[in-house]
Amino acid sequence: MKVLVTGIDGYSGWPLALHLLARGHDVAGIDSFVTRRRVREVGSWSATPIPPWPKRQEAVRRLLGRELRFYRGDLGRYAFVEEVLRTERPDAIVHLAEQRSAPYSMIDVHHAVATQAENLTGTLHLLYAMRAHCPEAHLVKMGTMGEYGTPNVDIPEGFFEIEYRGRTDRLPFPRQAGSWYHWSKVFDSGDVMFASRIWGLRATDVMQGVIYGVRTPEITDDALLTRFDFDEVWGTALNRFVVQAILGMPITPYGRGFQRRGFIALEDSMQSLRLAIEHPPAAGEYRVFNQFDAAYSVNELAERTRAVAEEFGLHPTIEHPPDPRVEAEEHYYQPIHDHLAALGYRATRELSEVLRELFRDLRRFRRRLEAKRHVLRPVVQWRSGDNRPPLAARAEGPAPAPAPVPAPPVAADVPTSRTAA
Ligand SMILES: NC(=O)c1ccc[n+]([C@@H]2O[C@H](COP(=O)([O-])OP(=O)(O)OC[C@H]3O[C@@H](n4cnc5c(N)ncnc54)[C@H](O)[C@@H]3O)[C@@H](O)[C@H]2O)c1
Repeated sequence: MKVLVTGIDGYSGWPLALHLLARGHDVAGIDSFVTRRRVREVGSWSATPIPPWPKRQEAVRRLLGRELRFYRGDLGRYAFVEEVLRTERPDAIVHLAEQRSAPYSMIDVHHAVATQAENLTGTLHLLYAMRAHCPEAHLVKMGTMGEYGTPNVDIPEGFFEIEYRGRTDRLPFPRQAGSWYHWSKVFDSGDVMFASRIWGLRATDVMQGVIYGVRTPEITDDALLTRFDFDEVWGTALNRFVVQAILGMPITPYGRGFQRRGFIALEDSMQSLRLAIEHPPAAGEYRVFNQFDAAYSVNELAERTRAVAEEFGLHPTIEHPPDPRVEAEEHYYQPIHDHLAALGYRATRELSEVLRELFRDLRRFRRRLEAKRHVLRPVVQWRSGDNRPPLAARAEGPAPAPAPVPAPPVAADVPTSRTAA
């Protein structure tokens, strides 16, 4: 199949391209490299060094013996999106190219607006260009399990049967997102569902759980590594926990730590996206997949990370800073996930096994982690309307080591040096 991956330079777009190429699919990609820029904006970088794009393309040629077509550009420019779809006329489009960080969207009004404007614009541009140039193509759109929030009932896959005042219907399950980013995904879902209805497009809306891991079987060389973010804005809780353990810092689940979420290993996420591509819906069908394997609380993630860290001779403690987010710290969580299993999906990776792999991989990049240890501390507060000042201060890096100060002649309660926050 001919597959177009938007966001091909990203954490999941890159391994997806490798996975599809290795299985004989023809792959082209789009990216604007905005994630690289925005991770720098908060003073961080990927733990794994990511080569410039031409080197990535060259590595694919050398190590996989395949060509990867690439279009550099922003989905915010409709002329660009049209040109790519007119040229490629793909069978499937996997749409990953969105601003994907909840904390980034909560920094201030400008980051909130950029997140929603970009995400909705990119999706609408793709939908219109598909209608015009490849109406038979299948859109695999990346949503998130976070669209549903944490209702006190089981979470179905997109739709549920409801009886109300004596009448019944099959309706979209209510969404209760927890950040401006998550709301952008909710609005996207509505747009994709509507476009399928009015134009007969085929679409799979993937409510993706949190992905973990940094390896897939196709990543056989460091030149093929995917990015791994670990700062408080771009890194997931599990990513931060592993890096904290490696750096000898306490592991820090926010708040009481009973927040539960769905998780899936990177390799299994690739498997499920490929299955979605290879089994397209009918024309006009909009279907929803809840894509995760197991749900864990943040405390469970912290404990599992600590247990694996011990195997590596590390002895991290676990501490609970106040939760910077506004979220239920203890709640019911029971999402259903049957649709992918019906297509033949089977989980192949287990959390502790992937954690071991992460420790092995990331310890090799310890110096890169060490240089950015200050970006792990939570700064972005959901209740604040403007998190820029503390972020800007942190992006400058830790305060320089103070010059040695001679001991004062008398004991005094006067600070003689500035300590890094
Ligand atoms: N990684 C996860 O755990 C996770 C979980 C749930 C949902 N998702 C969703 O999956 C998708 C991919 O996530 P990821 O972790 O690979 O993110 P990522 O930021 O690493 O990758 C996204 C890529 O898209 C590019 N991009 C973003 N906006 C663009 C635009 N307007 N035009 C062109 N390129 C653009 C970025 O430069 C980046 O390379 C996102 O939509 C995200 O919301 C991810």
